[in-house]
Amino acid sequence: MSILVMGTGYVGITTAIMFAELGIPATGFDSNAAKIALLNQGHLPIYEQGMEQLLVQHLAGRTIRFIQDEQTAIQEHKVIFLCVGTPSNSDGSANLNAIKQASEWIGKYMREETLVVIKSTVPVGVDERVSEWIASKQTKPINFDVVMNPEFLREGSALADALAPDRIVIGSDSEEAAQRLLSLYAKIDCPKIVTTPKAAVMIKYASNAFLATKISFINELSRLCDGLGIDIAEISFGMGLDPRIGAKFLRAGIGYGGSCFPKDVDALLHTAKASRSRLTIIEHAAKVNRTQPLYVLDAWERVMPSTFKKATVAVLGISFKPHTDDLREAPSLVILSELLSRQAKLRVHDPLTVLPVHFRALGVQQLDSIEEALMGADAVILCTEWPEYFDIDWFVMKPILNGHIVFDGRNALDGKSLIRLGYEYYGISSH
Ligand code: UGA
Repeated sequence: MSILVMGTGYVGITTAIMFAELGIPATGFDSNAAKIALLNQGHLPIYEQGMEQLLVQHLAGRTIRFIQDEQTAIQEHKVIFLCVGTPSNSDGSANLNAIKQASEWIGKYMREETLVVIKSTVPVGVDERVSEWIASKQTKPINFDVVMNPEFLREGSALADALAPDRIVIGSDSEEAAQRLLSLYAKIDCPKIVTTPKAAVMIKYASNAFLATKISFINELSRLCDGLGIDIAEISFGMGLDPRIGAKFLRAGIGYGGSCFPKDVDALLHTAKASRSRLTIIEHAAKVNRTQPLYVLDAWERVMPSTFKKATVAVLGISFKPHTDDLREAPSLVILSELLSRQAKLRVHDPLTVLPVHFRALGVQQLDSIEEALMGADAVILCTEWPEYFDIDWFVMKPILNGHIVFDGRNALDGKSLIRLGYEYYGISSH
């Protein structure tokens, strides 16, 4: 038996490869012909270390394939994973157009009893709407189940997260459907939770919102520590040793980005508003995140000899985090725009990510090497903690820089040795 994965974004591709790795053949469907052609040639439309080799391997072994014909895709499968995108609408709600379209296709083309598994991040209650959309297109009644199965993958370690997850969450009103899905995950050894569809969705949103809040908590605290002359990294370390708190997601920085935290926080706030409820802590976490890059930049500008105006600034790293080329909601983009409005000249480096065209049009240069980016810069700003930046020989770089100020937006560099080398070093409230 093979499974169908509808949508070949991060979640879809990872899910397809994960099942192929588990010995369950997978078919990926996408209506985007260029994406399907690319995938069938063994290339990923996303960057995920090690995944392309597995794709090539599974294509050769015929344990994975990609097709663009929804009718064939649906008619050939009894288990369908919905992994299509749910971007934000302008009011913060999740856009369900792709989910609706996929559901209607399922209703139209299904030929036998089908299990539909929603992996896309969708608001509470969407499983019921998916059922309605499927039923609305059926020409004769065929049984189907819709279950929720949120994913907890992180970009950069998506496949490892999929194959060795902390937990598998299944939301289903049917015990039989839940068991059917559990059998697909039989080879994965981790806690498996079967609950209601609503609770499964809330576990996903609450997890992302909690992690986002944890980051905003430490970022807001870093502002106080800044004023008090306390190094926030020491506070994170001291707090993180308490297992009830945990060290992860307590790194202060220029804020969280990516396609998940900002979108899911907004969607949860939208759900709360629609239910006439308030999530004031999460509202505030979102606000701290929106203001964090500007707060940090203002603090840094105060120590520049003559503000950022006309200064040449080298920006290291632009992706929303290392090991991905994803720029969605990246805080670096706020930093770049703001530096431009403050009339700085910008030289950018990122090992993987291509600078958006509109920044190029505004005169921002992207350089191939770190050395080139640093050439003649009055100040350096690190936005993304790519490992290559830990290996910079700052002694060797000193003569090619014009000024010796390093702003570390991720508290990732060794500030003490930079200071020993004669640099001025400013992190996020690192004293
Ligand atoms: C996040 C969650 O971690 C996954 O569990 C979830 O499945 C995924 O969203 C999703 O909903 O699909 P991801 O967006 O890939 O994964 O990235 P994270 O590693 O969570 O990082 C998010 C942002 O937080 C990054 O910008 C990162 O730089 C920032 N961050 C992280 C901090 O600023 N401080 C930290 O201590 C940790």
